[in-house]
Amino acid sequence: MAITFEKSTRTFYLDGHNVTYAFCINELDYAEHLYYGKRIPHDSLLYSRTIGAGSFDPTPPGKDGQIGYDRFPSELTFFGNSDYREPCVHVENATGDRLCEPLYVGHDILDTKPAVHGMPCMTGGETLVLHLADAVSGFAADLYYTVYDDADVIARRVVYHAGNSAVVLRRAYSFSLSLPRNEYDCLSLYGNWAKERHIQRIPLHHGVVSIDSKRASSSAVLNPFMAIAERGVTETHGEVWGINLVYSSSFVLKAQGTNDGTTLLTGGIQDFDFSWELAAGDSFETPEVVIAYSAEGLGGMSRAFHRVYRNHLINQRFVNATRPVLINNWEGTYFNFDTPKLKAIVDAVAGTGIDTFVLDDGWFGARNADNAGLGDWFVNEQKLEGGLQPLVDYVHSKGMKFGLWFEPEMVNENSDLFRAHPEYAIAAPNRERCYTRHQFMLDLTCTEVRDYIVDTVNRIIRMYGIDYVKWDYNRNVTEFFSGALPAHRQSEFSHRYALGVYDLCERIINANPTVFFEGCSGGGARFDPAMLYYFPQIWTSDNTDPEERTKIQYGTSLVYPLSSMSCHVSAIPNHQTGRYPSLHTRACIAGMGATGYELDSTQLTEAEKTEIQQYITTYRDDEELILHGDVYRVEDPFTGNYYGVAVVSPDKARGMLTVYRRMGSVNNEIKRVRMNGLDPERYYTIPELDITLSGAVLMNIGLVPKFEYGDFQTLQYHFKAQ
Ligand code: DGJ
Repeated sequence: MAITFEKSTRTFYLDGHNVTYAFCINELDYAEHLYYGKRIPHDSLLYSRTIGAGSFDPTPPGKDGQIGYDRFPSELTFFGNSDYREPCVHVENATGDRLCEPLYVGHDILDTKPAVHGMPCMTGGETLVLHLADAVSGFAADLYYTVYDDADVIARRVVYHAGNSAVVLRRAYSFSLSLPRNEYDCLSLYGNWAKERHIQRIPLHHGVVSIDSKRASSSAVLNPFMAIAERGVTETHGEVWGINLVYSSSFVLKAQGTNDGTTLLTGGIQDFDFSWELAAGDSFETPEVVIAYSAEGLGGMSRAFHRVYRNHLINQRFVNATRPVLINNWEGTYFNFDTPKLKAIVDAVAGTGIDTFVLDDGWFGARNADNAGLGDWFVNEQKLEGGLQPLVDYVHSKGMKFGLWFEPEMVNENSDLFRAHPEYAIAAPNRERCYTRHQFMLDLTCTEVRDYIVDTVNRIIRMYGIDYVKWDYNRNVTEFFSGALPAHRQSEFSHRYALGVYDLCERIINANPTVFFEGCSGGGARFDPAMLYYFPQIWTSDNTDPEERTKIQYGTSLVYPLSSMSCHVSAIPNHQTGRYPSLHTRACIAGMGATGYELDSTQLTEAEKTEIQQYITTYRDDEELILHGDVYRVEDPFTGNYYGVAVVSPDKARGMLTVYRRMGSVNNEIKRVRMNGLDPERYYTIPELDITLSGAVLMNIGLVPKFEYGDFQTLQYHFKAQ
C-alpha cells in the first residue's frame, strides 16, 4: 500500500519511490499540508504544525478565539474567510456571493488512477481521492493524488462539482502546495521562436512570482514548468520541487512568499479570460500537475520527470521504440520542389542508414509559399506530377518509410476551404481577423470543424499509406471567440480550444495506431507533457545551429527526456545563424535526442555521406541510452564556454558523454570534465581513449578533453563496464 490513512491523527501518508507526501485533516476539517520530501516513516507529524492566529484574524461564527486561516498550509486554498493568499478555486454562487469552504467529508483509495475526461494525463499509480464539500452551497472539490513506485513524483488534479444550484467557476486551478520556507530560487524555461526553453533563475520574494501563457497554447515564451529550489541548488546538490502542467492551453503557475515565512504554490488553467458555468450537479475537471521532488539537485528532478514521463505519460506505443532516422526536405527545398527533386533527395541518402523520408510543407493545395493552401489537404499535382502515390511508392520501394507534414488547425484566407467555409475560422463579431504567417486558426470549439479536419487528414493518411506525420502549428489565437458558445460563455474559449486539440489527437493519432506522429509548433512552441501524451517526440526548435541547440536542448532536458526532442543535422552556413560548425559537431549535438537530417542531400559529397553513415551507426549503438538512459548534465552552456551531457544506462553498464566547446582560444585553459552517474566500483573501458578507468576516478578526477583547433568543437566518449 503506497497510500495510508492514520485514523488517530487523521493523517494521510502517500509514499512514492523515494518520497513521502503527508497531510492531515485538522480540527476545522481542512486538509492541512504537513510534508512533501524525502521518504520518511509514518511518525505522527502533528507536532510540526506551526499555525496560530495574529492581528486582524477573524473569529468565525460559533468558534472561540481567532483563527489564522492564511497560516494553514492548505491543500486547496480558497477565498472568503481570511485566507488572502492565492486561492486555488474561486466560485461565484447563484446568490452572487463568492464564498465556499470546502471541508473534508470523506475519501477513497483507488488501486489505479482514473483518466481525466477529454484531457491527457499520466496512467497507473495508486490514487487517493479526497472529498471536500461546502456545507452551505453543496459545492464540492475532489482532490486526486497519485504516487508511483518507480518515480519521485506526485500527480495531482481537482474535479470541481456544483451543488444543488449553478455556480460560475472564476478560477479552477489544479493544486495548492505549501513549502516550509521562503528562501527559495525559482527556475523556469523562457524563450521565443528559435530560442526555446532557456533557463531563468530568480530568487522568490514576499509576493507572487508567476509564469503564464494567455495564448491558448503552452508557448515558447514560458513553458508550463516551474522549479522551486533551495538557494544555490546545483545539478547535484540541494532540494528541488519541480512543477509541470499536463496542459497545452493558457496556464499559470504561481509561487507566493507569504508573511508567515512559507511558500505557497498553486496554478493550473489560466484564470485571466476564463470562467466556466457549471449547472447544478455538473462537474469540471482540471488538468493534471506533476510535482517532482529531488534531494539531489536539478539532475535528480530531471531524472524523476524523465522516468515518470517515459513509463506513464508519453505515447506508450512508441516511447520505447527505435526511432526513425529521417531526412526532412524543409531546409533543403522549402516550398520549391517537384517529384524528381524529392526522389533525388531520397536517392542521395541511400546506404547512410536514414530510414524515413518526410515531405514537409508545400505538397498540397496552391501551396507555393506560406500565403495559400492551408486547409486544402489534397495533392498539388503541379509539383507532384501524377500525385503523391508514385512518390510514396518510390520511397517504400527503397525500403524507407514515408512521412507527411500537416498543419491541421489552420487555414489560409487564400484556400478553397476558407472560400467555402469562412465561418470555420476563428473570428469575433464585427471585427477583422489578424493574420499570422498569412493564416487564420480554425475554430476547434466547433464539432463540425473538427469533423472536417479528422475526415480529411485521416483520408490522406489512409489513402496513401503514410507511416509518419509531422503535425505543425504556426500561430497563436487572436480574436478569442467561439462560434459554438453563447455570449455569456465566451470565456470558456481557451480551455475549449485545448479540448478541441485533444479531441483531434484522439481521433487522428489514436485512430491510426501504427502511424508515428511528431509534434511541432514553428519549432518547439508547444512542447508540453499533454502533447507528449500523443506525440512521442516534438520538433524542439527551428534553430538547428548546434551552438544554439546546446542551450535549447540543455534547457529542455530539465523536464523532458532526450528521446522526446527531435534534433536535426542541417546544412552550413546554418540557415538561422549563418555559422559553419563541422558535420561532426552537428551530428554529435543532434545525436543527443531523436536524431534526423534536414538538408538537400543531393549537395552532400561522397565523403560527407560516408561520415553520416558512421554517425548513424554510432547513433543506433547509443540509441538505448537515448531512449532509456539517465541524464546527468555536467557542463552548463548558459554559464560557461562548455556544454556537457552524460547519459548512463539504468544498470550503469554503459554510458556516453558529449562535451562541446563554444569558443577556442590561444593557450586554451585546461578543461576537466567530471563524468557522473557511473558505478564508482566498476571499471569502464573508453574506446575513444583506449583506456580503462574506475567509475570513481571518472567521476572524481574526470576526463581532460582534447578539443580540435577552432570554435564549436565536440568530443564524444563511450563507457562500457567490464
Ligand atoms: C515550421 C516548422 O517548425 C518547420 O520545421 C517547417 O515544418 C515549417 N513550419 C513549414 O512551414
